[in-house]
Amino acid sequence: MLATSANGFQMAEGMSQVIKLVGIAGSLRRQSFNGALLAAAARSMPEGAQLEIVPIRDIPLYNADLEAESGIPAAVMHAKDALTGAQGLVIATPEYNGGIPGVAKNAIDWMSRPSQDIARVFHGRWVALMGATPGGFGTVLAQAGWLQVLRTLRMRLWTDGGPFYLPHAAQAFDPEGLADAEQRTRLAGYMAAYVERIRAGTD
Ligand code: FNR
Repeated sequence: MLATSANGFQMAEGMSQVIKLVGIAGSLRRQSFNGALLAAAARSMPEGAQLEIVPIRDIPLYNADLEAESGIPAAVMHAKDALTGAQGLVIATPEYNGGIPGVAKNAIDWMSRPSQDIARVFHGRWVALMGATPGGFGTVLAQAGWLQVLRTLRMRLWTDGGPFYLPHAAQAFDPEGLADAEQRTRLAGYMAAYVERIRAGTD
């Protein structure tokens, strides 16, 4: 049950603050495994927490000329505003050639513009990584690649849940989401522990 307090904060039953997370899936593919993993995460959020999935499909390729001429694109503004209003970020990352896919990095790069906004949008904000791949190694290298970026943006990487890798993703989903009950439990536990950690730091 949610209620809105006099100061506008949403409160869950028991009067602790609702934890809001923003999720970004680093793929533009309609049937993206990472999009499906993030959607499954949103569905498995614990009571008193929510995960808003922010699409990156309408974010153009970063070009300083475009920024100078037209400013920050609406899709980027939306993503920045959503993250600023949230306590944490979840990145569901594909792996391309052992690294971060360009579209995912591009989205974060745009969100770091103008640089005066980096502190407001990123500094000190929690971030958790997950990734899905049809391959057997579960985006190990892509997730490692993100560390450098997240450190530069001075985000707080949540690692207590261990790395969340989803290998063999082509077999992992059915139309309802994650097909395997054990995987659903693992994901729900991961999200619950992440939310719990954020709540411990904000209450
Ligand atoms: C891939 N893929 C891939 N997978 C992986 O586990 N390690 C890798 O290094 C790569 N490299 C790679 C490069 C390029 C150019 C493509 C197009 C693909 C496969 C990748 O995991 C697969 O396409 C996923 O389905 C991408 O994620 P989404 O779109 O399903 O979320």
